[in-house]
Amino acid sequence: MAKYLVHQSGPLSGEVVISGAKNAVLPLMAAALLSEDKCVIRDVPQLRDVAFMKEILASLGAEIEDVEENTISIITEDIISTEARFDLVNKMRASILVMGPLLARKGRARMPLPGGCAIGARPIDLHLKGLEALGAEIIFNEAESYVEARAGGQGLIGDTIYLDFPSVGATENIMMAAVLAEGITYIENAAEEPEIVDLANFLNKMGAKIKGAGTDTIKIEGVKHLGGAKHTVIPDRIEAGTFMLAAAITRGNVRITNAVPDHLKPIIAKLRECGVRIEVGDEYLIVRGDLGPQSATDIKTLPYPGFPTDIQSPFMAFLTTVEGTGTVIETVFENRFMHVSQLRKMGASIETAGNKAIVKGGAVLRGTQVMATDLRAGAALVLAGLVAEGITEISEIYHIERGYEKFIEKFRGLGAQIEKTEE
Ligand code: UD1
Repeated sequence: MAKYLVHQSGPLSGEVVISGAKNAVLPLMAAALLSEDKCVIRDVPQLRDVAFMKEILASLGAEIEDVEENTISIITEDIISTEARFDLVNKMRASILVMGPLLARKGRARMPLPGGCAIGARPIDLHLKGLEALGAEIIFNEAESYVEARAGGQGLIGDTIYLDFPSVGATENIMMAAVLAEGITYIENAAEEPEIVDLANFLNKMGAKIKGAGTDTIKIEGVKHLGGAKHTVIPDRIEAGTFMLAAAITRGNVRITNAVPDHLKPIIAKLRECGVRIEVGDEYLIVRGDLGPQSATDIKTLPYPGFPTDIQSPFMAFLTTVEGTGTVIETVFENRFMHVSQLRKMGASIETAGNKAIVKGGAVLRGTQVMATDLRAGAALVLAGLVAEGITEISEIYHIERGYEKFIEKFRGLGAQIEKTEE
């Protein structure tokens, strides 16, 4: 099994260029299924999750070509299967995103129940509720662990859908189903994440009529047909946030380019509260962890534009090293504290009660053997490892490679000492 060996590295410095967003590119790729014409997507990060999505699309009939590094083209002249394969779906929860496009284009979609990071139950009830509101019949077979959606004879028909929670994936799936539905769909209490806006922009380039993406109400006027489109993926705000925290935790000085500071407001605000200086430019940020002392703050994860759940664990790693005590409240996922036990193994003082963690700062972290329990937990352990005495040996790193492009190379470029070993 491959592992990362992270050495105590001192302050990071230099420049890091952020890749295209994992959470944007996966729905964009799924959306390409909606047209028989060519879609070209640029700034595609080379990640395991992207490779999984390519496999899923290919198994459904898409032809995918690597046009050049980080640019792919997808042509789906015909959908050859409306059933996603269990072995592929089981690897990645985001594979559920092909459901909306399959249903819209072929009137049927059958999915094994999705896998992915083990961060809670992560049901798909809101996806199904939305598709049902558009007129699909939902057949949910728990015993055989699959779900099927079938459009009636008239196809999908627009309706108003209120989401009980602004789920990112459900908003995307419903949006992709509704673009080819008859009439108008409103998604109320929709997710407002930048990745939703990116998807709407792409769909509109394909010929869809979507308004309001990025607000809590999205209006989708159905069209008969979508064509091809060319699109560049937005920068990954979670990767940018991870490197911001890397600069902060190592008391470093890092310039982060190809970032959208507007997407990073909660992280900027919270780091500033802790005493980290941040210069914000047009498409860059300079994060100075090296100026003055750092003290604790409290964070509470929320749907966008609140503090992102994906940065909760890296931020917690940072809080273990500052002065004072901070509270972390996780409201988006019910089981997203698996990194706590691993950080404790490294010497962190963290108490948890339900969805609340109290993090005592000033810990002297020590390198030891730890496990990346999920993608962002893995990133948190790398950050902790950079400041821990000795060597931190991180296993299960495939989680990290699912979502960070050239992770080690980028860290090394900033002076971090990290190696990958294959045992
Ligand atoms: C996406 C991101 C993930 C991020 C999350 C929240 C992708 C590929 N992944 O995941 O990195 O952490 O948004 O910002 O974009 N829920 C339900 N029923 C549903 C759907 C969701 O109860 O039908 C719940 C989930 O269990 C979870 C919460 O809603 O507790 C948020 O999930 P959601 O916003 O759907 O996240 P994902 O789209 O899975």
